[in-house]
Amino acid sequence: MLRGLVREAILSGRCASLMSKNFDPHARIYDATRTFSPGSQKVIVDSIVRSVCATRGSRFLELGVGTGRFALPIVRRGYRLTGIDISENMLRNFRGKLRHSGLAARLLKADAGSLPFADGVFDVVMAMLVLHWMPDFRKTLSETRRVLRGDGCLVFYNGRPRSANINELNDEDGLTEVDIAWQRILNAYRGDRPAEVASETDILEALHQMGAKIETKEVGKWVRKITPRETIARLKTRSFSEDRDLPRDDFIRLVSQLEKWCRERFESMEVVLHRRRKFRYHVIRFAR
Ligand SMILES: C[S@@+](CC[C@H](N)C(=O)[O-])C[C@H]1O[C@@H](n2cnc3c(N)ncnc32)[C@H](O)[C@@H]1O
Repeated sequence: MLRGLVREAILSGRCASLMSKNFDPHARIYDATRTFSPGSQKVIVDSIVRSVCATRGSRFLELGVGTGRFALPIVRRGYRLTGIDISENMLRNFRGKLRHSGLAARLLKADAGSLPFADGVFDVVMAMLVLHWMPDFRKTLSETRRVLRGDGCLVFYNGRPRSANINELNDEDGLTEVDIAWQRILNAYRGDRPAEVASETDILEALHQMGAKIETKEVGKWVRKITPRETIARLKTRSFSEDRDLPRDDFIRLVSQLEKWCRERFESMEVVLHRRRKFRYHVIRFAR
């Protein structure tokens, strides 16, 4: 009951004390821990550029541009790009890459909920792995609509489980049984304190309410083989922000719980499981 009320308050933007997630502490390890499968980056960015019908003069804006994982390949293809982020360290990392490649983009420290741009100046706004970190994502969506040209579009990639309800998840979400067991352990631990502000379903629902037209695209299909032992070893590096934010002792206890679950569930910790990943994103056009 309480959890529902807290979640509802957050989604409606009434919990003003909650802050967006600044990635300053993650900037150094970010790229090393978020690699694309070989060849996938090209497939993904080609698909995005095609879906938004980009032309030579198209102006892109990426919200929460980070280290430029998606933005740099857009700049390399010759498009004009502006990137904003609240993390100076992530922007510094991206600036270094641009300098190294002899490329240029406009990078600003700014909050996506209050964009420092005039109305109707971008053809494409990209929100990749970022909206779920914003307590007031509705404000960001209305800012996005404001800065887009009439025929412009938003590219939204959530990259998180589709639903906050663990029972609705399966290997369509690119998760193994061990990943789902970890989510279940985290949910039980967090109780009333939701780890993230909104799921993909919540954000799409808000877009529907704004009268937006949503087209969902899927590209690629990558299978990553991973054993329970490897999953746990990876978790122990604490390279994902939601894991890093847990108190150290609690984190160690929860991982031991997962390890115990794995030993009971599988004959061996070396059994090969499959993460079947697709890249699923949405192209959104706002009603005018
Ligand atoms: C998970 S990273 C994603 C970075 C990049 N889009 C990518 O896909 O690799 C999220 C980024 O959004 C930034 N961020 C979070 N809240 C923000 C906000 N309200 N306004 C602008 N940037 C924000 C964080 O600092 C971080 O760099």
